[in-house]
Amino acid sequence: MLDGAKVDLDFGSSSGLTPTSTVLNFLRNLPEHRGVKEGCAEGDCGACTVVLGELTEGRKIRYRAVDSCLLFLPMLHGKQLVTVENLKSPAGDLHPVQRAMVDSHGSQCGFCTPGIVMSLFAFLRNSRNPSEEEARNALAGNLCRCTGYRPIIEAAIRASHESEQVSMATDGAHIAELLKSIPRKSISISVPGQRYDQPGTLKECLSLIKRFPKAVVVNGATDVALRVTKRYETLPHVIDLSRIEMLSKVTRNKSTYTIGSGVKINDLMNVVSDDFPAFGEMLRVFGADQIRNIATLGGNIGTASPVGDILPVLIAYGAKITLQSSRRTRTVRADEFVTGYRRTEHRPDELITSVVLPVPSKHSRVRTYKVSKRRDLDIATLSAGFRIDLDARGIIDDVVLAYGGMAERTKRAHLTEKSLKGMPWTRGSVERAQRFVGQDFQPITDVRGSAEFRTVAAKNLIMKFWNDTH
Ligand SMILES: Cc1cc2nc3c(=O)[nH]c(=O)nc-3n(C[C@H](O)[C@H](O)[C@H](O)COP(=O)(O)OP(=O)(O)OC[C@H]3O[C@@H](n4cnc5c(N)ncnc54)[C@H](O)[C@@H]3O)c2cc1C
Ligand code: FES
Ligand code: FES
Repeated sequence: MLDGAKVDLDFGSSSGLTPTSTVLNFLRNLPEHRGVKEGCAEGDCGACTVVLGELTEGRKIRYRAVDSCLLFLPMLHGKQLVTVENLKSPAGDLHPVQRAMVDSHGSQCGFCTPGIVMSLFAFLRNSRNPSEEEARNALAGNLCRCTGYRPIIEAAIRASHESEQVSMATDGAHIAELLKSIPRKSISISVPGQRYDQPGTLKECLSLIKRFPKAVVVNGATDVALRVTKRYETLPHVIDLSRIEMLSKVTRNKSTYTIGSGVKINDLMNVVSDDFPAFGEMLRVFGADQIRNIATLGGNIGTASPVGDILPVLIAYGAKITLQSSRRTRTVRADEFVTGYRRTEHRPDELITSVVLPVPSKHSRVRTYKVSKRRDLDIATLSAGFRIDLDARGIIDDVVLAYGGMAERTKRAHLTEKSLKGMPWTRGSVERAQRFVGQDFQPITDVRGSAEFRTVAAKNLIMKFWNDTH
């Protein structure tokens, strides 16, 4: 849906659209929607921010800011696309966010402004009376090179006190009715040299990946889309999991949470907030809102990135990963899932369907750490998920020290762990254990940090863990 109405898209040579055309490029080719801008084409600058409206279970519309440069067109199916052109009132007046940006002098060259306005539109639709800190978090994915952020934050707070005049494109009730009428059926798009499947059920998806084991599976596509936008690859066959509701389910009993692989990072933050606070800490510095609104838990595990933020956390909590094919379902311990550089236990006919996360015992202390050059929207130089279980005398019963960024894959520091087991949780034990870090890891030097920095930081994180938990 665009401009308050349903839109049917034709793919193929007549329209010039392929299923992996990005929403950004689609909009930039529409004369009426060129407010959206391309800065980086990789999710880092927010100039391309648009808003997606989706029906919730309560039949209301939920608005999320997303980077249109990372979004493949079929991902819009059954959703509303809101662009900066849609914000003006029926009488043609500026939206309160736009008015506040003018009144607070929040724009100079204006290149970032449409993206900032869209981030703030989604933010203010979802939060009443926001704090300055919340406004800062909502804007962490938007770069402004010339104005400076103070007037922009001021505009966010100013706009939150104003009421908006809804237009056809922003009237939730009207949009909800239209979205309800869009059929939920599976989609398959074929153009010369490319096929795109968006199955509606897990069963259908499993049979597709069995038939087409070489197809590229995506969910949020925040990782895979870069192959198209940066490496200009044509992906011959994409299977998009984003409409399979079962993958977004979370179930819990007394001792475990089973979290669907399709749960988006921002939703995951709510899921883990009570029983897994250290997980929440890591997710707070995961990308920025536009990324967390679309990236998924399963996609993060699926990348098997040695600097991915989530695997060290899952290992610390003793999680298991569920893999399902059309023939069978199996579980793999998170610390055994990655087998080498970007190699995993996952087979081509399987999907990662869920993560089983045990609630830690009251004797467990868990912490997570991310070392990066910036707090927000940065790749880790190294990251860590640590857990320690102490017995009644304060002796270490069990210990897990999982690191990202220290080897070709996320890895536990087994020798360091061994040196701590059976010892009291004291500064002396930590100082002794730190000597083993250099034997566990021989990290590389790259643009994010030298091998020496990584080794020193990895040692220091154990001391920080002790300091935070003793
Ligand atoms: C600007 C930016 C910032 C980022 N910041 C961070 C960050 O702070 N921390 C971090 O860890 N990562 C970060 N990432 C990387 C990426 O966003 C995450 O890894 C994200 O969780 C991937 O999820 P996705 O659903 O978008 O994955 P996709 O791109 O859809 O898929 C990624 C990989 O996983 C596979 N896959 C996806 N779902 C499944 C499944 N269910 N079963 C089997 N395989 C599957 C795909 O085939 C693909 O190989 C960032 C990326 C960008 C562009
Ligand atoms: S163009 Fe920079 S985030 Fe999309
Ligand atoms: S106003 Fe120029 S980049 Fe923000």
